[in-house]
Amino acid sequence: MQRKILLDEKDIPRSWYNIAADMPHLPAPPLHPATLKPVGPDDLSPIFPMSLIEQEMSAERWIAIPEEVLEIYSLWRPTPLFRAYSLEKALGTPARIYYKYEGVSPAGSHKPNTAVPQAYYNRKAGVKRLATETGAGQWGSALAFAGRLMGLDVTVYMVKVSYEQKPYRKMAMQTWGAGIHPSPSARTEAGKKVLAADPESPGSLGIAISEAVEDAATHPDTNYALGSVLNHVLLHQSVIGLEAKKQMEIAGDYPDVILAACGGGSNLGGIAFPFLQDRIKGRDLRVVAVEPTSCPTLTRGEFRYDFGDTAGLTPYLMMYTLGHDFVPPGIHAGGLRYHADSPLVCQLYHDGLIEAKACGQTSVFEAGLLFARTEGIIPAPESAHAIRGAIDEALAAREEKKETVILFNLSGHGNFDMAAYDVYLSGKLVDYEYPSELIREALSKLPRIGG
Ligand SMILES: Cc1ncc(COP(=O)(O)O)c(C=O)c1O
Repeated sequence: MQRKILLDEKDIPRSWYNIAADMPHLPAPPLHPATLKPVGPDDLSPIFPMSLIEQEMSAERWIAIPEEVLEIYSLWRPTPLFRAYSLEKALGTPARIYYKYEGVSPAGSHKPNTAVPQAYYNRKAGVKRLATETGAGQWGSALAFAGRLMGLDVTVYMVKVSYEQKPYRKMAMQTWGAGIHPSPSARTEAGKKVLAADPESPGSLGIAISEAVEDAATHPDTNYALGSVLNHVLLHQSVIGLEAKKQMEIAGDYPDVILAACGGGSNLGGIAFPFLQDRIKGRDLRVVAVEPTSCPTLTRGEFRYDFGDTAGLTPYLMMYTLGHDFVPPGIHAGGLRYHADSPLVCQLYHDGLIEAKACGQTSVFEAGLLFARTEGIIPAPESAHAIRGAIDEALAAREEKKETVILFNLSGHGNFDMAAYDVYLSGKLVDYEYPSELIREALSKLPRIGG
């Protein structure tokens, strides 16, 4: 019985895979909010370095990974692929379940895969400081770690509810030398406006993004870094799927279905896009995005142009959205509380190449607990969404007596999420369905662009 499929350091991919080269339809372009014309590189240059802007707009299939980034990747990459024998046994399923484990990175999730190259390209462009937001604290930790290794200062606006729920994440970021502020904060105009309307605001990723973008736009030595959603972020995350493809080949299997939790879509894109290349060429394969019922962007959002942040500082992006001023309830998977998704993921969902399902948080924690008690790893609550999806596929395979091959991305560990597990274990966790009226209300305030 071979549980782990491991690659050598020389097998770390040398290039990132860009799905834009193979998509049947490219996403509609980001639009400038004032002119409603597609944004050009100059519109983005106040907050991003030109090398990342070029990647954002690139249609090249393969983009070389710089040597210095590969050296830092080798601290934890290649990551292991596991066959979940113990989980399969507990479920009594004929399915073969595999998971790619990204929690072995220093920050504990997939996020350093993009934090490291973002810090690298910014330092090369002469930037001194990066400002960013964080929900669960995973992205802030990743950028704090990457910034330190690349010699950049990092300022993190952390969604207030997570700041309070996760003091150890905050301390980890401080250990790597970053400055952390609960968001909404009084450091920015965007934060002050939210606080004036609601001094008790729990914050949201959209608000924190507004604060970080404003910080970057108002300081010449500072740029902005985003942990998900944008094309270049999903590009960098393709190392996950590229490695997983090699590892599945070694295991002598090919997935029937790939699942990942979906917040902004970066770990989903990371594991699935290199396989979707085969699906686009005609191979049978399902890809499923798993999202929370409390923030059901793909399953209940509308496909239209919206801002990427609450204050409307970003370009309009074509996404499945719940409305940019949507403030989701303080569920325990902070990293999934974003009002929309990556335009690449949204276009592929629109074209039927990706499916989506929404799960309530109690069923997600139930799945996370079963996983911890069989496979041993305590999953991040975000990642437990993928586990829920995988278990449901494995149970369906049991019913149908089918040897379905299931691959999911275990995007991070939950060692800093014990307060959330405590709420679940003490029976206090409740499910939350976001009310349709509130979605309609948030969307009704959006201008209709392009019909
Ligand atoms: C462990 C983990 N998984 C998943 C996500 C969701 O983000 P994305 O959809 O960009 O992968 C997050 C976000 O913070 C996270 O921390």
